[in-house]
Amino acid sequence: MKVVVFGASGAIGRAITAELLVRGHTVTAATRTGAPVEGLVVQAVTGDASDPASVARLAAGQDAVVSATGPRRGSGEDPEESLLGAARGLAEGLRRAGVRRLVVVGGSGSLEVAPGQRLVDSPGFPPAWKATALAHARTLDEVYRAIDDLDWTYVSPAGVIGPGERTGEFRVGGDQLLVDDAGESRISIPDFAIALTDELEDNEAFRRRITVAY
Ligand SMILES: NC(=O)c1ccc[n+]([C@@H]2O[C@H](COP(=O)([O-])OP(=O)(O)OC[C@H]3O[C@@H](n4cnc5c(N)ncnc54)[C@H](OP(=O)(O)O)[C@@H]3O)[C@@H](O)[C@H]2O)c1
Repeated sequence: MKVVVFGASGAIGRAITAELLVRGHTVTAATRTGAPVEGLVVQAVTGDASDPASVARLAAGQDAVVSATGPRRGSGEDPEESLLGAARGLAEGLRRAGVRRLVVVGGSGSLEVAPGQRLVDSPGFPPAWKATALAHARTLDEVYRAIDDLDWTYVSPAGVIGPGERTGEFRVGGDQLLVDDAGESRISIPDFAIALTDELEDNEAFRRRITVAY
């Protein structure tokens, strides 16, 4: 498959790019700076997910687009501007390029911990992550869920995602937060990348959210 990955130099985007390359896909790694992706031999290009013209230019002739963009930690970027802007830019850019398949790295804050109750609204939710979690939730509800002319999948990590082992063993769920026997919701970045790439290849979750956790 020919795939453009927006946000390929980020912590999660890099792992997805690596997973795609290992499986033999042809990857174009796009970021606003066009920076090389550390440790990977991949074509790095300049591209802005929030700019439909930029997205259309890079998506033309591709089989699918993956996005792992977000406000860079400590950059002062506004989470809503970053995430809503990227979602709108990606949707319009894919339409212009005639590409239907879009797989997006989302947030976990909008996952339900009980019927109608979101993780982000739980009392113990870390204040530092709240603005980004709420921006992700708005983006899913207002932009992605309103798209009916593209084959999008929104992939939420577990409550906690970070560096760790590539085990290949995890569960895939829907709109509910998945927790392990100890009550924790977690996934390693390499395992998240496997699950997202599986979805890209298998096309099982069109126009809905999935989540990945142990
Ligand atoms: N539990 C959770 O819910 C959870 C946890 C972790 C991460 N996440 C989400 O997962 C996503 C990825 O996180 P991360 O930690 O991997 O991020 P990161 O390390 O900060 O990387 C973000 C990447 O996106 C690129 N980027 C940002 N805006 C862009 C744009 N408009 N067009 C193209 N590239 C753009 C950045 O490169 P340039 O600056 O060079 O463009 C960078 O490559 C984020 O949306 C984040 O909020 C969710």
